[in-house]
Amino acid sequence: MKKILITGAAGQLGSELTATLRNRYGSENVFASDKKPAPDEPYGLDVRDMPALNRIVETHNIDTIFHLAALLSAVAEQTPQQAWDINMNGLINVLETCRLHRCALFFPSSIAAFGTETPAIDTPQDTIQRPTTMYGICKVSGELLCDYYYRRFGVDARGLRYPGLISSKTKPGGGTTDYAVDIFYAAQKSRHYDCFLRADTQLDMMYMPDAIDAAITLMTADSAHLKHRNAFNVTAMSFTPQQLAAEIQKHIPGFTIAYHVDPLRQAIADSWPKHMNDSAAKAEWGWRPRFGLPAMVEDMLENLRSTQ
Ligand code: SER
Repeated sequence: MKKILITGAAGQLGSELTATLRNRYGSENVFASDKKPAPDEPYGLDVRDMPALNRIVETHNIDTIFHLAALLSAVAEQTPQQAWDINMNGLINVLETCRLHRCALFFPSSIAAFGTETPAIDTPQDTIQRPTTMYGICKVSGELLCDYYYRRFGVDARGLRYPGLISSKTKPGGGTTDYAVDIFYAAQKSRHYDCFLRADTQLDMMYMPDAIDAAITLMTADSAHLKHRNAFNVTAMSFTPQQLAAEIQKHIPGFTIAYHVDPLRQAIADSWPKHMNDSAAKAEWGWRPRFGLPAMVEDMLENLRSTQ
C-alpha cells in the first residue's frame, strides 16, 4: 500500500481509517473521497461516477482502494432501489477500476450477509447465506463479486464481515446496530436511553480501534496464507442492549434504559447472527481483538467525557 484512496471517507469507519492510514503511510499518500466530503477534503465523489473515480486513481497513481461508500441497513430498507444502485453499481465501478489500474481492494461485508436460515450461534465462516434485507443482499452479492474479480481477473480483493461498529468520534448513520453508539451519547447527556431494539437482542459488535486494525492487518497480510481472502467473519464481543446498559450502569449508576421497539430495525436484527465464529480470520491472518465489552465501555465513556 503506497498510494491509497478511501471512498465513503467521511463516514463512521472512513473518518477514523483515513486518520490512521495517514499517520501510518503519510498524509500525502492517502486520498479521502466522499459524496459529501469533510470541509478540508478536496474529493467529492459519487462512486457511481466511473470517469470521476478513474481520474482520481490515475492522477495519484492509486494502488489500493478502501471502498467504504454504501447505504447502511435501516436506510437501505427505506430506499431499496437506491441502495442497490449505490451499493452494487458503486462496487462494480470500483472493482473495474481496480482491474484496469491493478489496484488492491478492501471491501467491508457485514453480519447482514447472513439470514434467518444461517446458524445464529457460532456462525461458521462458510455457511448458508440467504439474507432478507436489501443491505444484506448487496453485501452477499458484493462478496461474490469480489471473489469473481479475484478468480477471473486477479484483482486482489480482500474483505471482512464486520459486526456493529462502536466509536466515540463519528456516529454511524442509518444502521441497525447504531443503538450501541447512541446509548453512550444519551447516557452522558441525559442519563437515559430509549432503545429501538428489544432488551434481549444479541448481536456481534466491535470497537473502532479493532475494526481499523483488522482492515489494515488483512490488507497487509501475506497473500500466501489467505485461503478465504474475502468476507472473513470477525467479531470482538457479543451482547444485548440489556447487557450493554448494565455495563454502562457500573460507571453511571443513575443510568436508565427503556425499550420502544422499532419493528423495521428489530426485524433486521432478528435476521442476523448473534455470535459469529471468526476462527478463519484468526488462523489465516492473525486476527486478535483488543477490546471486549468492559474495556470498550470504559474507553468510550472516557473519550466522550473528554470531548463533550
Ligand atoms: N452496522 C451495520 C448496520 O447496522 C451492519 O453492518 O447496518
